[in-house]
Amino acid sequence: MTRLDRVEQTRARFTGPPLTPRTAVIWSVLRAELERRAGGRLTVLDVGGGTGGFAVPLAQAGHRVTVVDASPDALAALTRRAAEAGVGDRVRAVQGDGDALAGLVEPASVDLVLCHSVLEVVDDPAPVVTALVTALRPGGAASVLVAGQAAAALGRAMNGHLDVAAALAADPAGTAGPRDTLRRRYDADRAAALLAAAGLTVEEIHGVRVLADLLPAAVADGQQAALVELERALAARPPYRDLAAQLHLFARRPA
Ligand SMILES: C[S@@+](CC[C@H](N)C(=O)[O-])C[C@H]1O[C@@H](n2cnc3c(N)ncnc32)[C@H](O)[C@@H]1O
Repeated sequence: MTRLDRVEQTRARFTGPPLTPRTAVIWSVLRAELERRAGGRLTVLDVGGGTGGFAVPLAQAGHRVTVVDASPDALAALTRRAAEAGVGDRVRAVQGDGDALAGLVEPASVDLVLCHSVLEVVDDPAPVVTALVTALRPGGAASVLVAGQAAAALGRAMNGHLDVAAALAADPAGTAGPRDTLRRRYDADRAAALLAAAGLTVEEIHGVRVLADLLPAAVADGQQAALVELERALAARPPYRDLAAQLHLFARRPA
């Protein structure tokens, strides 16, 4: 290895963005995967990556990131954000559908695929997950974030909407009916089964925002560091995990 290679590897070492209660657990999992890859430059695909909240920090860490998103406005914001961060050359913005990745991304070309807060809004999640798996190299990893059904039901109940809470808790798809903004929500078993059915091996499941949405803003804002620590401490532990607003699954395409 040349000195330049070593300098490049050091640059690529990931420190990540400031941790918040909404992102700390996910970045912890992603950081472990990046460290496992020992500073190598990864090919990353962020499906429904929006304005680049994950894509831009990953590009800043030296990785090449393609964001496929259906929204031209989100992609325009992503492109601006990447340019402002000085990583415009490492972020590719592609307009397209998550279930039509085959025409947009070379099969088996991706080391890490992200699909955060997307499976609950697409028409049908199964083909999207299949497309993620097809894009991954054997041994590549998937970071999938979905909305939690239990937290949504509790939230409706705590706001006094007991009928909506009852409907949401009883609905096999985890929605509160036709006016719900999401098409589905998950519990850990159903989310894991969705990924397993597409051929992924689920390695870890964490709850994201176990507490963040339950606390008064003054507490959440005033004790952010303590809240981040508590979110991290509870994230992997049922029953706390299963009451989180979101479930994060980390899975791998078998080598
Ligand atoms: C809730 S946002 C999540 C953005 C980002 N992943 C995050 O976690 O901050 C959902 C994103 O998915 C995109 N999206 C929705 N349906 C999609 C589809 N079928 N294919 C690709 N992107 C889609 C939307 O345009 C939006 O940017």
